[in-house]
Amino acid sequence: MLPRADPALVDTPAAMRRCTFCDTRAGVSCEPIADSGAGQVGVPPARSAPLATVCVVEVRPACGHDLDAMVEVMFAEPSVEQRVFMPSIAGARRFSRVLWQRADLDDFVVADDGGDVVGFAWFSERGVSMWAGFRAAVTGLGWMGPIRLAARGWPRQLVEISMPDGIKLIELQVHPSRRGNGIGSALLAYVIAEAGHRPISLTTRSDNPARRLYERHGFAVTAERAHPTFERRTGTPGRVLMVRAA
Ligand SMILES: CC(C)(COP(=O)(O)OP(=O)(O)OC[C@H]1O[C@@H](n2cnc3c(N)ncnc32)[C@H](O)[C@@H]1OP(=O)(O)O)[C@@H](O)C(=O)NCCC(=O)NCCS
Repeated sequence: MLPRADPALVDTPAAMRRCTFCDTRAGVSCEPIADSGAGQVGVPPARSAPLATVCVVEVRPACGHDLDAMVEVMFAEPSVEQRVFMPSIAGARRFSRVLWQRADLDDFVVADDGGDVVGFAWFSERGVSMWAGFRAAVTGLGWMGPIRLAARGWPRQLVEISMPDGIKLIELQVHPSRRGNGIGSALLAYVIAEAGHRPISLTTRSDNPARRLYERHGFAVTAERAHPTFERRTGTPGRVLMVRAA
């Protein structure tokens, strides 16, 4: 397992670059850098070498070229809710891709490691409308998609908590092979900086270890909803609403 890196070593939005497909001149590349001995996120340099080639993980705005990699990140290790409430993982992948493609890509940022997308965040003031979900279900899962989705996913609605006004953090995902290295923290720091004086809210499974990450960044649980049917299906009592006050 890779050693845990100092989150401060993840490039911040100030060093933001562009997708390698959109702007090759400003694209992310692996450069030989002097070995500080401290290492970089995900790729620790050899301490004995005077120079080490590292890829620095940067947080940058997403673009259409990132969609497939984002799907990979999200479904590399499907969550219990994806396995239980989606008609199939293949369908869930198509559904998510269509949903994101139709959403405003300005609401997405990716963690980019030398051209590889290793994580992303989706945050928006608007959230996701029923209509957007319906259309993505038809395109991703077929014309019966919305019905299949409702038939399988209804217990999820039993623990749904609506988010208050402000920024909604809809997704925060890091590839399973890259977790625990500060990438999630860097994405979250970007979202917090973008939110400025606005509050940020999110909902997640009540047993998600990610709660600690959010608490470290100033979020607190403000509501909780549990239901025995949801618990029977997922092994988790319910979901929590976490809010970071303005
Ligand atoms: C939550 C997530 C984005 C964190 O990304 P990350 O790059 O591992 O985050 P960092 O390295 O900055 O911080 C690690 C923290 O993330 C949390 N975490 C959650 N799941 C984790 C996992 N599988 N591995 C490591 N850390 C995890 C922990 O709180 C951990 O802090 P701790 O050491 O105090 O327990 C990532 O684990 C993930 O993609 N999980 C699956 C999707 C998910 O649950 N997203 C949040 C839903 S709202």
